[in-house]
Amino acid sequence: MRLKDKVSIITGAGGGMGRVAALRFAAEGSRVVVADNQSAAAEETVRQVKAAGGEAWPIAVDISVEADVQAMVQVAIKKYGRIDVLYNNAGIMPEADHSVLDTPVEVWDQVMAVNVRGTFLACKYVIPQMLETGSGSIINISSFVSLLGCSVPQDAYTASKGAIVALTRSLAVQFAPRGVRTNAILPGPVETPLLMDWLVKDAKAKQIRLARNPSGRFGKPDEVVALAVYLASDESAWTNGASLVIDGGISVNYF
Ligand SMILES: NC(=O)c1ccc[n+]([C@@H]2O[C@H](COP(=O)([O-])OP(=O)(O)OC[C@H]3O[C@@H](n4cnc5c(N)ncnc54)[C@H](O)[C@@H]3O)[C@@H](O)[C@H]2O)c1
Repeated sequence: MRLKDKVSIITGAGGGMGRVAALRFAAEGSRVVVADNQSAAAEETVRQVKAAGGEAWPIAVDISVEADVQAMVQVAIKKYGRIDVLYNNAGIMPEADHSVLDTPVEVWDQVMAVNVRGTFLACKYVIPQMLETGSGSIINISSFVSLLGCSVPQDAYTASKGAIVALTRSLAVQFAPRGVRTNAILPGPVETPLLMDWLVKDAKAKQIRLARNPSGRFGKPDEVVALAVYLASDESAWTNGASLVIDGGISVNYF
């Protein structure tokens, strides 16, 4: 077991890649705090983890709300005594997020609140716990869109994912001397509700994305989570400040 006896908080673990991560982390021996703003979804993830023989605890938290994040950390410490891994996975990509020209200000603010402030808040309240034990791994989920322009824009989402990469580097430099590593994963398009709900409504966007991916397909949640298991485990003890792209090669394709 690669994560034996670790305690991991996974945000947005009520669905999509977060739920897959919770199941995989638990199978690797981690106790998992399943944090999501959809409490029934978090409870369902915990039910699935326990049915598979793992240990998990659900927490209803809106990651953009400071008091919720403080409560999440308190519950994790009370329940499991420490936090070894913070997996900042929760993120939103609203349909109304398009070009700067037509994205409503409220949509921009909503994306920044969940994707950027949420990551900031979780780090703000988890890192002190990790510094107390002198070890920890923070995994921030960015996206390949932080590297590339796109003719089908999602400007708030793109900017939010760029901010996460920049924050990752800053945290990596500040806290590695005290045992806390921080890395970012930049997934390409993965088959989850977040992407599929949006893409099936836009056949052109779907065709563009598939046509330009040398792998000829979207990624699978498991393939991204496999990288997260590496980052959570002690195998990655010297991996710090990295922006790890996992996208089937779409971001290196010129034509
Ligand atoms: N699916 C992709 O193709 C893709 C590609 C690159 C990056 N990502 C990123 O990966 C992460 C997971 O994406 P996914 O496709 O699994 O998404 P998803 O929509 O399937 O799942 C996201 C989860 O986050 C939860 N959530 C949303 N807002 C929240 C909030 N304010 N507080 C707490 N929880 C909240 C949702 O309830 C849901 O369970 C996101 O950060 C996303 O931006 C996804």
